[in-house]
Amino acid sequence: MKGKILYAGSFDPITNGHLDMIDRSAKLCDRLVVGVTENLSKKARYPVEDRLNMIRMATSHLDNVDTESFTGLLADYAKRLGVEAVVRGLRVTMDFEYELQMAHMNARLYANGIETIFLMTNPAYSFVSSGLVSEVFTLGGDVDGLVPSSVLEYMKNLHREERRKDESIGIAGRA
Ligand code: PNS
Repeated sequence: MKGKILYAGSFDPITNGHLDMIDRSAKLCDRLVVGVTENLSKKARYPVEDRLNMIRMATSHLDNVDTESFTGLLADYAKRLGVEAVVRGLRVTMDFEYELQMAHMNARLYANGIETIFLMTNPAYSFVSSGLVSEVFTLGGDVDGLVPSSVLEYMKNLHREERRKDESIGIAGRA
């Protein structure tokens, strides 16, 4: 496809499922824009700046991918960028209803001017979500192989910093 595609999400943090979507979507267009924003129905674990850093590290092998943050409606951002389409991943059938609603709403906001393309998530990552990864990691579980290795190192460093701060005010956390 000529032109740009937008892959937007909260990426809190980026997982190997996201990265697989980025790798595959980047092959479908001239430029892929990874747009990081808040999902108002989720409480973010990582600040946007850290999420951007993690995505940029994980996608440094791709030369047609730009990563940036945005606020407000995805539809407005997609229009400003002038993308050909928005891409979203479907892991399991349960994802479909929510994704279908969003696709229709985004299309409606610009009188059917925004196309959503769905890619099936790699089955190896069909059970992986940022929320689950974040919870397992925070409670001391092993998430190796579920997030890019550079991202895991970044998460560990952030966690060490948080622990140092917590210890200085007497709060316990992940070992
Ligand atoms: O990775 P996520 O959390 O599933 O992504 C959801 C996201 C961020 C794409 C969605 O919440 C969104 O589009 N947020 C921007 C605000 C907006 O446009 N809301 C209306 C969506 S129809």
